[in-house]
Amino acid sequence: MKLAGGSPPPRYELRAGGVPPAQDFRGGTSPRIAGMNPGIPGSDGVATTPPGRVTMTLVDRMQELLEAERAGVKCLDAMADHATDMGKKELFSIFRNDEGKFCAGLFRLLQARGAAPTKNVGAFADKVLALRTEAEQVALLVKGQAWVVRKIDEIPPAEMNADETAFFADMREVHVVNIDKCNKLV
Ligand SMILES: [Fe+2]
Repeated sequence: MKLAGGSPPPRYELRAGGVPPAQDFRGGTSPRIAGMNPGIPGSDGVATTPPGRVTMTLVDRMQELLEAERAGVKCLDAMADHATDMGKKELFSIFRNDEGKFCAGLFRLLQARGAAPTKNVGAFADKVLALRTEAEQVALLVKGQAWVVRKIDEIPPAEMNADETAFFADMREVHVVNIDKCNKLV
């Protein structure tokens, strides 16, 4: 992937392997931007609208990611419950715990900025659990994890303090590693 403006190359190729760009995995939240068109991939109305049209604060981004991570906990908890293969059950439980760790971290960072963390759970969880097979669920989970990586990459570095920078670097890395592990399952 080539990035304009001399940005460092990402450590993960988000669009490899058929991962669609900019699909909205939040779901269930109220549109905050006039004119958004949530039904169209690449038109989530927040960070993918033309530059300059939307100002999304770091708190907005963290709230969005908190909803997504909560959705991750919800669907992975159910997937771990239903898995009959002990290896997969353990792996899904590890992923769920990772998601939970990032929920707690985002909650803490939001409070540190004086914001009230959202109580919402992203509708992504129900989209995953509505799929009939475990393979389909894992495939959608990979897309959701890639969405999280992309959202982290969209955070302007200058808006983060040192604590936040370290947190999001870790969150990104864990998601990239977990995507690779998921891809080996399907
Ligand atoms: Fe996640």
